[in-house]
Amino acid sequence: MFLRIRILLITLSFLILLGCMTQDDSGSMQPIDGYPFVTSMEEINGILKYRGLDTIEFRKGEIIADIGAGNGYIEAILSMFHDSLIIYIQDIDTSVCNHSVINEVVDFYKEVNGRPFTNKFIVVNGTDTDTNLPDSIFDKILMIWTYSYLKKPRVFIKDVRDNLKEDGLFYVINPTQDEDEYTKSLRQKYGWNASPLENQITDIIDCGFELIRISRNYDVDGYNQPYFMVFKKKTD
Ligand SMILES: C[S@@+](CC[C@H](N)C(=O)[O-])C[C@H]1O[C@@H](n2cnc3c(N)ncnc32)[C@H](O)[C@@H]1O
Repeated sequence: MFLRIRILLITLSFLILLGCMTQDDSGSMQPIDGYPFVTSMEEINGILKYRGLDTIEFRKGEIIADIGAGNGYIEAILSMFHDSLIIYIQDIDTSVCNHSVINEVVDFYKEVNGRPFTNKFIVVNGTDTDTNLPDSIFDKILMIWTYSYLKKPRVFIKDVRDNLKEDGLFYVINPTQDEDEYTKSLRQKYGWNASPLENQITDIIDCGFELIRISRNYDVDGYNQPYFMVFKKKTD
């Protein structure tokens, strides 16, 4: 019994440390404990590794977008390891995704890095149906812990497709999402899709993508073991 409680507490503190979030029942799409401001390289590497972001190759000059980026901490952290990128930090929530918050986050991680960043950051706020990102310019689009909150996934993902270059890649990274009474209630109360993984994949494929890779991070405990999916545009 005590061992179980200890395991639960350790798992919870690990998830909080990673800045990850469970879908809470308050209607907020933001993490309960806020976004991470961490200084140790172990924690910083942990944030990237947990989401599989350490496996993505970013090439100098690429144009990247993160949709549902929150306060842009992932982009600030990625900028410690990757140079000369143009990064669009996109979110629907202007209270977390705005110039002043993002400057603060970028300045924090620049300080941790000990040298200036060479990446350029552009802040964009979208809607439930439009990313408001420019069309046909992105080499890579990331969507991390965000898919389940989309209210109109099939409309929104078609817009994402338009934003990508012909050979661009779309990365969808999510925790598991089972179909149960809880997810049904989230759908009813907030209009989020809260779709299980197979529906997410079907929706994205129906929007003109093909799934080219899927893997899962089994190195962490609990329901949050995230899936890492890579899609490219279907051309026929
Ligand atoms: C759980 S947070 C994830 C933040 C960050 N990607 C991470 O992994 O820590 C989900 C984010 O999705 C955003 N979001 C929800 N619907 C969106 C939409 N239609 N367009 C853009 N962002 C959206 C929310 O505002 C929130 O910032």
